[in-house]
Amino acid sequence: MSNFKLKSTHTPVKAYYETLERFERGKFDNEGNVRRAFEALLENCARKFDWMVVPEYQIQRTGKNPLRVDAAVLDAFNLPRGYWEAKDTKDNLQAEMNMKFADGYPRTNIIFQEPTHAILFQDGRIKFDDEIESPEKLVDVLRLFFEWKQPLYEGWAQAASEFSERIPEIATGALKLIADERKRNPAFVERFTAFATLCRKSINPKLKDEAVEEMLVQHLLTERIFRRIFDNPQFTRRNVIAAEIEKVIDSLTSRYFSRDSFLHDLDRYYKAIEETAATIEDYSGKQNFLNKVYEGFFHGINPKQADTYGIVYTPQSIVEFMVRSVEDVLKAEFGRSLSDKGVHILDPFVGTGNFITRVMKEIRTSSLPHKYKQELHCNEIMLLPYYIASMNIEHAYLDRVGEYEPFEGICLVDTFDMRAQATMFADRNLERIERQRKQPIFVVIGNPPYNAWQQSESDNNKNRRYIKDGGVDLRVSKTYSKASKATNKNALSDPYVKAIRWASDRIGKDGIVAFVSNSGFIDGIATDGMRKHLTADFDEIYILDLGGNVRKNPKLSGTTHNVFGIQVGVSINIFVRKKGPAEKRKCKLFYASTDEFWTRKRKELFLEQVKDRNGVDWVALVPDNNCNWLTKGLLSEFGELLPITDIFDKQSRGVATSRDLWVYNNGVERLTANISRSIDFYNGEIERFIRTGSPKNLDSFVNYDESRISWSRDLKQDMRRGRKGEFSASKIRTALYRPYVNSFLFFDRVFNEEVYVFPSIMPNQIAECENRLISLTGPGSDKPFLVLSAHTLVDLHLVGPGCSTQCFPFYTYDEDGTNRRENITDWALAEFRKHYGDMKISKWDIFHYTYGLLHHPEYRTKYAANLKRELPRIPMAAEFGRFAEIGAALMKLHIEYEKQKEYPLEKREAEGVKLNWRVERMTLSKDKTQLKYNEFLTLSGIPAEAYEYRLGNRSALEWVVDQYLVSTDTRSGIVNDPNREDDPEYIVRLVGQVVKVSVETVRLVKELARLSIEQV
Ligand SMILES: C[S@@+](CC[C@H](N)C(=O)[O-])C[C@H]1O[C@@H](n2cnc3c(N)ncnc32)[C@H](O)[C@@H]1O
Repeated sequence: MSNFKLKSTHTPVKAYYETLERFERGKFDNEGNVRRAFEALLENCARKFDWMVVPEYQIQRTGKNPLRVDAAVLDAFNLPRGYWEAKDTKDNLQAEMNMKFADGYPRTNIIFQEPTHAILFQDGRIKFDDEIESPEKLVDVLRLFFEWKQPLYEGWAQAASEFSERIPEIATGALKLIADERKRNPAFVERFTAFATLCRKSINPKLKDEAVEEMLVQHLLTERIFRRIFDNPQFTRRNVIAAEIEKVIDSLTSRYFSRDSFLHDLDRYYKAIEETAATIEDYSGKQNFLNKVYEGFFHGINPKQADTYGIVYTPQSIVEFMVRSVEDVLKAEFGRSLSDKGVHILDPFVGTGNFITRVMKEIRTSSLPHKYKQELHCNEIMLLPYYIASMNIEHAYLDRVGEYEPFEGICLVDTFDMRAQATMFADRNLERIERQRKQPIFVVIGNPPYNAWQQSESDNNKNRRYIKDGGVDLRVSKTYSKASKATNKNALSDPYVKAIRWASDRIGKDGIVAFVSNSGFIDGIATDGMRKHLTADFDEIYILDLGGNVRKNPKLSGTTHNVFGIQVGVSINIFVRKKGPAEKRKCKLFYASTDEFWTRKRKELFLEQVKDRNGVDWVALVPDNNCNWLTKGLLSEFGELLPITDIFDKQSRGVATSRDLWVYNNGVERLTANISRSIDFYNGEIERFIRTGSPKNLDSFVNYDESRISWSRDLKQDMRRGRKGEFSASKIRTALYRPYVNSFLFFDRVFNEEVYVFPSIMPNQIAECENRLISLTGPGSDKPFLVLSAHTLVDLHLVGPGCSTQCFPFYTYDEDGTNRRENITDWALAEFRKHYGDMKISKWDIFHYTYGLLHHPEYRTKYAANLKRELPRIPMAAEFGRFAEIGAALMKLHIEYEKQKEYPLEKREAEGVKLNWRVERMTLSKDKTQLKYNEFLTLSGIPAEAYEYRLGNRSALEWVVDQYLVSTDTRSGIVNDPNREDDPEYIVRLVGQVVKVSVETVRLVKELARLSIEQV
């Protein structure tokens, strides 16, 4: 029976005509009211179907701008059922309609309506084109509109692709249904709560209700796919987890006639997919579809979770290479094989089951039943990949052995926390976990998750920590971290590091760990301790570096060059442990890398060609004393020079804000308004926090509204401590944000993440007049070395995000600005005086000497690799005086850049354009000799040397061009405008001054180049 209930006598119909009449008589009503009356009619009809009317609906299109219709009618799964375009009486309805279609408006089910006329288009044809002056006609057109049935899709591909694209909407719709049932279905609430408790026991004690709801949705939407498309009605019955969830779903849908009627709005997708599926024999075609659904789920609706768990497939070529290599190592080093009894194999992060199904192919058919039942193991933390892996593995078995056998080696569990719980899901999952724990695992193989730490606290996307009972975080901390000399050890919290630690502990006295992972540990500064332990834990290590680190080499593109399409480098790592006393172990380290500029396809082809580890040309590496494996370019003599940290008493990292947008701005007024708004919001959050009884979990408590605040780890801690924000005009200070780019900074301990030692370096404006500092790129930077002096606060990311800046000031003070003292140590002064036999050398001389030396081109090339790993060390070169002199000249030039005479650039003013100094965005010509300042002005004659003065990976002028532009941040709405009202010509002058500074710097550096840097 139709849900369309509208009659010509119903109130909304009458209301429509009353409004129309008033409008036609003029005076009282306008045309807008007629539209609203029609919208009310649509709403009334939609309600009867449990649908809704969404005004100003945007139809998304790939690669094109979205289309906007006046309204769309959406069903319970947020899928559009029809569209409405309202036109005015003065419009020519037919012409308007043709224009819309030419723009690409859908012809499926759309009403074009003006007050007295309507045209209904359905399935590409006019279905109704008539006056709607009588209520009967009006009801007719609405009936046709609402009762329209979308024809089933013809092709599988189209239906499947639309289904997966629409997953986010569909899932949101299903979540809403679940939320509704939780309000009014006590039986469901009871089952849900019991189920959530079980999930918390097995997956994560802090698992939120929302995550459980998502599991239900994943089950709901895919169960039918398994049942009908894969023709596997056994699956949900025989899979231990699915069977459990089925019970919850039964109670969820109990108020409906059947499960299918609960999901009836999806029929038009499912049916088409199912009908076509029936004709498809090929498993991989269906599998592709399921993979799309899987991707749609995670990247479409839950990208945070996708990042946290590393939801990404492992390319088949990598899986093949790894499985073949493991088989080869087993044969060559242990005289065993994957097929052998007793060789237990575990993929702790199984995803869709790629590794296990490939391992199964390697195993002899006759050995497979035993291996399948007893010695193949895998874990997965997410429900959907768990299902997919189970089904793929079971299918692979069916294919080989000819029997359907549920795979019992898979556990739904957090690999890092496999402590047995009292009861969970079905006890059968618990039994499996316990069984796996007891197995002597010989091979661990897989692709662990790796989400380099979350980008921003606002992402609220942290990795779980495992501290209790010898948890993996504790193990990392007691081994890799303890043995590290690095100061910043953040890189060790990445899950792939934990996975390597975990697997090293999981195998026994002998065994193999084969992981494809982030390659950061090979040469990371913080992973020195990890490398030390790895060479102590294993006898042989093979690293095949597949490159693709976009941060290290910005010429690469993640999508083109990286095998996973990501930004961090990737390597295949095979760690081999043989029996024998650990103390006597002498690890052999082998390394190979693919060409940096190979595309991902080329790299995959390479893996296919070399087949396994035997086909690779390995180079043996010999670690140095600092646990560096890749020692190319590192000069040991660097270690004999004077550490810069011995010359200076104190040093500081640049100011870390964690919210540049909010605390930096070019305009004082705008900065004041932005930060005051954020402080008020933050203080309000503190009050709300106290009112709510100081809940423990701040991550889920705080409001992440990006138009008001940007959260960070520290700000949340301050909130917990009840530390309120406070605005004061005196906290607005000048800072060097990027090279030759000054900005105002709200300098404050609450709203800056870390101010480090800066309150003692630049306590006030007096210090800004008299103090000087040398800032430089700290170790671990992926950009070329930078050195630049400053007399203000300096930003942590002076050469851009990802690089930390270290600052060495000449003076330090008490925080109130008193007690000024020189920061060059007396020890260093004595050393220099003694070394050069010159008692007249002053601390300023040493300061300038250091600055000069750090600009020396030979020093920078010779020690480039060392400077990437540690802070500078300073040779005592022969011509101390000349170095100090040139260093002083450079420093004066760089500090006083805004006082320099402009370089004589030619200024070309456009004819007929009004005088205008305002910059929106400047652009350099291709040959870089000209700068288009704005429509009014072009500057030409920029000399080539100007670009020789480089700071990180840009020249000084390019920094200015890059940073001085008007921008609006879409998420916060914050505007940054570098134009100065009080000094409209500041930027044009700055361009000339920076060119001058560059040319002059290049000249002085050439003088420096004549001096020897050899230690005398
Ligand atoms: C990179 S994917 C594996 C991809 C898999 N090899 C494939 O090709 O489909 C990592 C998988 O590990 C799972 N995972 C992440 N953390 C986990 C944990 N602590 N325990 C178990 N599984 C985990 C993720 O849900 C994800 O499916």
